[in-house]
Amino acid sequence: MRAFSIPLLAAGIGSVSAALQVDFSSTSSIKTAAKNLASDAVGQYNGTKPGEIPGILGNPMVSGYWTWTGSVFLSTLMDHWRYTGDDQYNDLIAQGLLHQKGPNNDFLAPNWTATLGEDDHGFWGMAAMLAAELDLPNSNDNLSWVDYAVNVFRSKEQRWDDFTCDGGFRWQIPPTNMGYDYKNALSTAVYINLGGRLARFTGNETYGEIAERSWDWLTEVGYIDAKNNVYDGAHVQKNCTDINRVQFSYTPAVLLEGAAHLYNSTTGEEQTRWRDRLIAMTNRTLDVFLQKGVHIEVACELRSTCTPDMVFFKGIFLRAFANVAQLAPFLHDDLTEAFKTNAEAAVKTCTGGDNGRRCGFTWAEEGDDGEGKIPGTLNALSALDVLLIDEVSQKSLSTAPGGSGSGSGSEGGNGNNNGAGNSAQEKPAGSGGSATRVTAAMLFVGLFAAFI
Ligand SMILES: *[C@@H]1O[C@H](CO)[C@@H](O)[C@H](O)[C@H]1NC(C)=O
Ligand SMILES: *[C@@H]1O[C@H](CO)[C@@H](O)[C@H](O)[C@H]1NC(C)=O
Ligand SMILES: *[C@@H]1O[C@H](CO)[C@@H](O)[C@H](O)[C@H]1NC(C)=O
Ligand SMILES: *[C@@H]1O[C@H](CO)[C@@H](O)[C@H](O)[C@H]1NC(C)=O
Ligand SMILES: *[C@@H]1O[C@H](CO)[C@@H](O)[C@H](O)[C@H]1NC(C)=O
Ligand SMILES: *[C@@H]1O[C@H](CO)[C@@H](O)[C@H](O)[C@H]1NC(C)=O
Ligand SMILES: *[C@@H]1O[C@H](CO)[C@@H](O)[C@H](O)[C@H]1NC(C)=O
Repeated sequence: MRAFSIPLLAAGIGSVSAALQVDFSSTSSIKTAAKNLASDAVGQYNGTKPGEIPGILGNPMVSGYWTWTGSVFLSTLMDHWRYTGDDQYNDLIAQGLLHQKGPNNDFLAPNWTATLGEDDHGFWGMAAMLAAELDLPNSNDNLSWVDYAVNVFRSKEQRWDDFTCDGGFRWQIPPTNMGYDYKNALSTAVYINLGGRLARFTGNETYGEIAERSWDWLTEVGYIDAKNNVYDGAHVQKNCTDINRVQFSYTPAVLLEGAAHLYNSTTGEEQTRWRDRLIAMTNRTLDVFLQKGVHIEVACELRSTCTPDMVFFKGIFLRAFANVAQLAPFLHDDLTEAFKTNAEAAVKTCTGGDNGRRCGFTWAEEGDDGEGKIPGTLNALSALDVLLIDEVSQKSLSTAPGGSGSGSGSEGGNGNNNGAGNSAQEKPAGSGGSATRVTAAMLFVGLFAAFI
């Protein structure tokens, strides 16, 4: 169990800095606190400074944040804008996304493909999808946001692998990476998420059919079990039967967000199937990851072994469920109850740092544990923002035939067959980052192989 210290508040004479103050009965108080946290998060982002790289949280070799976390940062700011109207970061968001879109407009930027996981790639597609759903201003480019999301989906479509385990995605995109022989649930979850959102946004039912087949694969292979636990993955050499039963909260959250879009855009028996999946998996997911109503990243938090990647999961979890609550109204009341408990717990950790409101990671304990850093701020920001789901007009979850994009465009997508595979092979195999990352992740996988 991690020790944490209650920081000294109001350190200097006349100092007004103190823990983040929120009156949860007041929308404007929630918005003000959220704006403060957004400003704290952006204050740590260097992507707008000369010589720095837009869209990511520093070079991963230096900052320790893998590039996919840039998409989480940008997506959190987009949702912040959606729920509070605070649009001051919209240019920063668009600049970050466009810088990372890659030469083929499919988020396979050559700098990063050598270390790119299939799941990481999906997170960039989901960020572009969110930009499309929220109609993020993008006046300087030839493609609309949904085109980038379509390109990511099509790029992934080509890498769906029936040759082993009867389907699914290999975790790593470059064949030379450690982890290429591992098929993880999240890599399929991001595909289902994008497919569900594209189905709803574009009205093209093919995306929904692909998403449903992919969900069925997760069930057949046992990554989703009969009790609706969602496990991490398994190896192709074992036909994906050596399932690593560790559970990470973002995997079911990403799945359920996709399912909610599919529920919302289908009818009849198909809709009933998505409704049943939503009810069952939401129930299990909340039982696994909420303790006394508060989110715990059960695989690592209690042992203080969460990697920097894992510290981002709480915010991803809540923002995904915010969409579930809106699109699947039969879950709205249970989820908003959970949002309240979590926001109150999260805010109680925002007591640290120079400004007295740096947020910690361990929401089950009060006070800043010093573990939160940028993702800690993004998590607490997400917890506040999702309290406001009933304040926004539902049209911000746009439906598509009237949406901003045709969904048919993939002018840049023609280059997809020259994408991931080739650019990865052109890279020197196994940069330090790739090796470090995979080692840490695989070590983790090993440690918790027996974890239920
Ligand atoms: C941004 O730059 C500052 C000053 O160099 C550094 O302390 C901070 O860690 C950087 N932020 C990120 C996300 O790398
Ligand atoms: C790739 O790396 C170069 C050199 O650090 C940098 O200038 C550029 O912005 C990076 N591009 C992306 C997409 O990260
Ligand atoms: C938009 O397309 C035109 C014509 O193909 C091209 O010259 C221009 O560079 C493109 N703009 C961007 C931002 O990609
Ligand atoms: C591999 O597992 C799938 C179920 O996930 C099964 O349908 C298939 O028959 C298995 N193949 C072999 C060769 O055991
Ligand atoms: C899940 O379902 C069980 C059985 O119906 C119920 O006891 C439990 O409270 C539910 N959990 C949540 C989080 O809704
Ligand atoms: C779909 O989502 C909208 C909110 O965006 C909601 O108003 C509507 O009731 C949902 N449809 C169904 C069938 O639940
Ligand atoms: C619908 O999406 C599928 C899957 O990407 C694609 O192959 C097909 O061309 C799309 N159909 C239309 C009419 O855009």
